[in-house]
Amino acid sequence: MVQHLLGIEGLAKEEIYNYLDTADSFVEVNKRDIKKVPSLRGKTIINVFFESSTRTLTSFDIAAKRLSADSINVSASSSSVNKGESLVDTALTLESMSPHVVVIRHAQSGAPHLVSKILQKTAVVNAGDGLHEHPTQALLDLLTLRRHFAKTERPLEGLKISIIGDVLHSRVARSNIHAHLALGNEVRLVGPATLVPSLFEKTFGPKVKVLHSVDDGLEGSDVVIVLRMQLERQNDKFITSLDEYSRDYGVSERLLKRVAPESVLLHPGPMNRGVEISTDVADGARSLIRNQVENGVAVRMAVLFKLAQSIPGHDDGFEQEEER
Ligand code: CP
Repeated sequence: MVQHLLGIEGLAKEEIYNYLDTADSFVEVNKRDIKKVPSLRGKTIINVFFESSTRTLTSFDIAAKRLSADSINVSASSSSVNKGESLVDTALTLESMSPHVVVIRHAQSGAPHLVSKILQKTAVVNAGDGLHEHPTQALLDLLTLRRHFAKTERPLEGLKISIIGDVLHSRVARSNIHAHLALGNEVRLVGPATLVPSLFEKTFGPKVKVLHSVDDGLEGSDVVIVLRMQLERQNDKFITSLDEYSRDYGVSERLLKRVAPESVLLHPGPMNRGVEISTDVADGARSLIRNQVENGVAVRMAVLFKLAQSIPGHDDGFEQEEER
């Protein structure tokens, strides 16, 4: 049966670890001089991005090429979507060219799910849909944390995670919440009530706490995930001003030294330096932001590798595993 990756919600802990274990093997490949393996030779990957992206698009493209697949990137601005073609017709058109995996980013929550229902023989990856999920971002965040904590033989479970900022509009936050709940971690969501409403506690249950005070929200955290302030939403009056937001919820090294001195810091990017995050902490010793980007390639290699194997008619991966 064709397998898709549409979200973290519903994935069992074992499935998450399976992606991370596969990604770990590709981290090693990415450290070699020649960063290329023949695992997906003869396979075709289409990246269809209806929204802007630097990290996700580039890393899926690099991932496909490092697996020896043929990779094609389609953006909404240069496609026939501009001439009014629907998402369904676009998806059916692409499937007629026999890709093995289609990677989709779309502003509409649920768009990749819709495409996965329509396509018969193509695996679909959600590269971020509306306010819903960004599953490969959560997987690369987990891989980054697992590799970091492994240095002190600390497992990925039993961690205190704080997610601070515009949780309301963040698909990264939702995927991370699902991921950390699957691992049994404690999650605190931190920010003003307009961006972190208490309904998140009802939606996600007792392991998720909503806190509007930065000190309470970050106190003793192992991991602080800072979210991008979505500047495009400024006219919607979720905050009174960027200056005020930065003063009350901006994350700096001074703040973390005081409330969460042992914490490490993640940010999915793109960052607004001086708004949700200060440069001292973004570029400082506790920051794993560059590691996140690096691990993004390995995670996307793992996702493409695993999903391409689920396509009927795919040669069994044994020989490819050997070659890898
Ligand atoms: N984190 C993330 O999705 O970044 P891009 O928008 O640059 O892909």
